[in-house]
Amino acid sequence: MEGLIELNQCRVCKNKELNKFLSLGSMPLANSFIKKERIASSEAYFPLDVCFCSVCGMVQLAQVVDPQIMYKDYNYTTGTSEPMKAHFNGLATQIVKKFNLPTGSLIADIGSNDGTLLQQFKDMNMRVLGIEPASNVAPLARAKGIDTVEEFFSEGPARKIRSGWGQPMVITATNVFAHVNNLDDFIIGIFNLLDDRGIFVVEVPYMVEMLKKVEFDTIYHEHLSYFALRPLVALFKRFHMQIIDVERLEVHGGSIRIYVSKGEKKTEAAVDSLIRSESQSGFDRIDTYGKFAQRVNRIRDGLVTLLKSLKIQGKSIVGYGAPAKGNTLLNYCKIGTETLDYIADTTDFKQGCFSPGSHIPVISFDGFYANPPDYALLLAWNYADAILNKEWSYRQSGGKFIVPIPEPKII
Ligand code: TYD
Ligand code: ZN
Repeated sequence: MEGLIELNQCRVCKNKELNKFLSLGSMPLANSFIKKERIASSEAYFPLDVCFCSVCGMVQLAQVVDPQIMYKDYNYTTGTSEPMKAHFNGLATQIVKKFNLPTGSLIADIGSNDGTLLQQFKDMNMRVLGIEPASNVAPLARAKGIDTVEEFFSEGPARKIRSGWGQPMVITATNVFAHVNNLDDFIIGIFNLLDDRGIFVVEVPYMVEMLKKVEFDTIYHEHLSYFALRPLVALFKRFHMQIIDVERLEVHGGSIRIYVSKGEKKTEAAVDSLIRSESQSGFDRIDTYGKFAQRVNRIRDGLVTLLKSLKIQGKSIVGYGAPAKGNTLLNYCKIGTETLDYIADTTDFKQGCFSPGSHIPVISFDGFYANPPDYALLLAWNYADAILNKEWSYRQSGGKFIVPIPEPKII
């Protein structure tokens, strides 16, 4: 298939026997919202299958879509999401404090998007450099005065950056690591670029949380890897880097933040203790993943049954939020315009578009408030707390939310 590569070995340990445990079917890219004038054109569909490596414990997609196709026009801007802005503010403060960074230190952010995280460092008088391949968001960062190199990060660009800007004391990569196909090349780039005393900070959704809360909709083509801590430790070790600390985070349904240094350093107890808890909970065994696949099927069946019965009762239902993950959910469950009248979303460039595959119109919240639906399917469940609070008046006047995971529930 054009633009698609089958993964023939584990991305971390190179084991060639991967166990496929979940097939979500063939679907369009989760962020490829369709502009009105293109609604009649055909969309590219790619299979979405997940496999487990029983050697190192890595969970990964069985196929890789060409990044040139996926990230050409990347429809995601960090700055549009208030909770993420707050999160990044906390991250910048934490890093500066934890490592006693002197002002003027160079900080590089990979996948810097619109510069939201770097802006926080800049406000703390650090030197900042963004690395962002999407040609439509990099200029947004530059407009804020944040130097941005328009590249997919890897060994080559790392060398160029090192000679142009020097070696950063901190390199951050938030929600980008799971998107990288060739991790070897990426980490060699980090090793060469980072100052010898420097720290590489990575935030990734935590696979263990994804499984526990059945967040199967966070599986989409952009997310090539689903990390537990154990394979991450093994991965960095191959490149003489060491995970010295780990923190659990609430963002994106449960994430981990890891701190990685060059060479041997003292490791915090949190690292070993998290790895131990992973194996105690069975995340090193294939049957755990088979059970997850069964739970995913049950969510689909339960949700479809619930929505059907509400439609039969004549209820109006809309989607709340149009995150990428919503499109996995809708396409896997085959939910379309027969069920959802529209999807309301705060993001400018999604409004007026149609959801990929399911072709549901995305509109602003004006329509939602003007004519509140009986039910709102919470596709942006990662912001459930903030949204349920914000929408108290909709709820007080009888509006209900449907939260799809870990099992469909009406609130
Ligand atoms: P996001 O959390 O970035 O998820 P993903 O990585 O799966 O795309 O997306 C959240 C979406 O929800 C985004 O399009 C903005 C929208 N949203 C709202 O419409 N209203 C809200 O109150 C919040 C918090 C988000
Ligand atoms: Zn492996």
